Amino acid sequence: MKALGRYLVWGGEVVTGAKSFKANPVLGSVRLNRLGLHVARVWSGYWITRLRMALLAPGVPTADRRQFNEQGFVLKENYLPEAQFKALVAAVARFDGEIRECCQGDARTHRILLTPEVLNALPEAKAVLDDPALKRLFRYCSGHARLPICHIENVLNDLTEPGTRRDPQKNLHIDTFQPTMKFWLYLEEVSEENGPFVFVPGSTRPTRERLKWEYAMSLQASRHADHYTASGSFRVSAEDAARLGTEGPRAFCVKGNTLLIANTFGIHARGEAAPGSSRLALWGMSRTNPFLPLPGLGFGYFNRLQYRVLTRMRQRDDERAAARGTLSSWHRIEQTRIVDEPPESN
Ligand SMILES: [Fe+2]
Repeated sequence: MKALGRYLVWGGEVVTGAKSFKANPVLGSVRLNRLGLHVARVWSGYWITRLRMALLAPGVPTADRRQFNEQGFVLKENYLPEAQFKALVAAVARFDGEIRECCQGDARTHRILLTPEVLNALPEAKAVLDDPALKRLFRYCSGHARLPICHIENVLNDLTEPGTRRDPQKNLHIDTFQPTMKFWLYLEEVSEENGPFVFVPGSTRPTRERLKWEYAMSLQASRHADHYTASGSFRVSAEDAARLGTEGPRAFCVKGNTLLIANTFGIHARGEAAPGSSRLALWGMSRTNPFLPLPGLGFGYFNRLQYRVLTRMRQRDDERAAARGTLSSWHRIEQTRIVDEPPESN
């Protein structure tokens, strides 16, 4: 009876954003995936999301929509007026708040969650995120009226010692089987030195080639040696990356004050970075159930609620980790300033 209940839950997850082939034997079933389960989720998730995006299109510039749908990203250089950008960088640098850290191989990611309370204390960031034009663009690119969860993020590339595991985000991959929006408003220059975002333009469409690749991956994912691939975040070989987009991987070396919004259903990676370097940005992401037919109403209540839910989840992870005598994957650190010194704005 218990087993039946578990299978009902796993079966129900087929129409959600659940992605792990290893954790869910229905999603990971070779037999079902041979019949096309995974490919059907990819294809229908994409087109239902596009339908919701169409409902959110009014007021979004045609050029932005076209770039996002054809290439998988929107890029806006010199996004904020110069004075506003400088004030934002300075305010972020002097802000004192709770920082959480996630360590992956030789990279450490530091984030300050921009809850409504934090934003009230950081009006320079609030002004950016409250802009109606940006909200419309976020809603369109995520295919949902709920706004992304936003953070201040600093990615630090450690000085490695022999034997240190490589940062897994530096391998080309897709985040999941469904369209997912991530954005960066870079607060400093991004170069080959500090790990530019690498993206394969045109790799966000469910073309015949892409679906064939998804199909082949779905037959091996549940038993795949790579933990991330088995969890539904497929790693992508250089050869596959070269043929699944309209061009090869592109590194976004950009000036500070550049806004980048990308669909991480597309093939991407964190670029190589010099040890000791770091990269500071306003960062956020949005992912919703891809099978929802409607984009929601975007009430402020739900936007605020998602911060409370995430905060509670992090606290629960802390408690569980403490009971095991370890640190949670996103643990709090003593440091309360995101950078030692404000980056040079350019
Ligand atoms: Fe990713």
